Amino acid sequence: MLKKWKLRQKFTAILLGILIFGLGLIAIAMGFILRSDTQNQITSQALILMETMNSVREYTSSQVKPELIDKIEVEFLPETIPAYSAREVFEGLRQNNLEYRNFFYKEATLNPSNLRDRADQFETKIVERFISNPNLKEIADFRSVSGGQLFFIARPIQIKKESCLQCHSTPEKAPPSLVERYGTKNGYGWKLNEIVGAQIISVPAQKVVSQARQSFVGIMIIISGVFISVILLVNYLLNQNVIRPLKRIVRVAEEVSVGNLNADFDELRQDEIGSLAEAFGRMKLSLSMAMNRLSKVNRPNDSNH
Ligand code: HEC
Repeated sequence: MLKKWKLRQKFTAILLGILIFGLGLIAIAMGFILRSDTQNQITSQALILMETMNSVREYTSSQVKPELIDKIEVEFLPETIPAYSAREVFEGLRQNNLEYRNFFYKEATLNPSNLRDRADQFETKIVERFISNPNLKEIADFRSVSGGQLFFIARPIQIKKESCLQCHSTPEKAPPSLVERYGTKNGYGWKLNEIVGAQIISVPAQKVVSQARQSFVGIMIIISGVFISVILLVNYLLNQNVIRPLKRIVRVAEEVSVGNLNADFDELRQDEIGSLAEAFGRMKLSLSMAMNRLSKVNRPNDSNH
């Protein structure tokens, strides 16, 4: 079938084939790169926030708590509790910056002192996974919520120090001011080395994912544009340099073939087509010389008749 096609059709078809195949390959590679890039970007965002919160916790227990330890006897100050300060700092970040509205930080706990830290259904499953697999140090995954896609990183909260149990074992052991504020029901009965909850940071993934999608579409449009320009350019060059000169030679050859020996092959070009025209020109010359000779040979005989 390809044999019946004109040169231009053949070239265009072949180039279009390359275009479609090439675009397919590029799309697969780009999809792969963008996906891992998106995941890296979101993960590093979540990790920075997680480490910042750990730093706030550390600051609270090493610098704030020692200063205020005496006052706890009189009145309980949650400002001395790392879990509280981390949560408050993060809330401040969310309230003061619209763009962080959909970021979440929670020390999701099965039996928390402060009920706002109680693990919901989804978080409970994560905590249970950490409890049943003590070697598991981190869970990171995407999660769909009503506001779009979230990416979260979760780490287990384990009671590693005896000192934690001063407040989290029984109401009798805890400072009275704490019991007065938080009651006797919640946040007690924790044991040493027990995993009581999970520190979970969630960052919105929707924006990064749709940005990656946009760059994907943009890059594909640019590459298609370049490909299509190349096809048009090849078409134009083929027409100018091959097809039109060839058609001209065909036209002249046809004229010569019907006896018009004055028709001229132009030989202005230096390329292969020029050589072809030149060869045709020489052929025409030989042809006309042969015809002349023929007619000269014939003429004397004419007079004899
Ligand atoms: C001085 C008493 C005290 C000590 C010591 C203490 N906590 Fe707490 N902890 C609290 C209080 C009170 C809260 C609730 C703070 C709030 O209102 O957010 C809390 C909250 C938490 C939370 C968040 C979940 C919840 O219960 O609301 C975690 C997790 C936690 N503590 C872990 C620890 C660990 C681990 C240690 C030991 C390194 C520790 N705590 C030592 C009093 C204490």
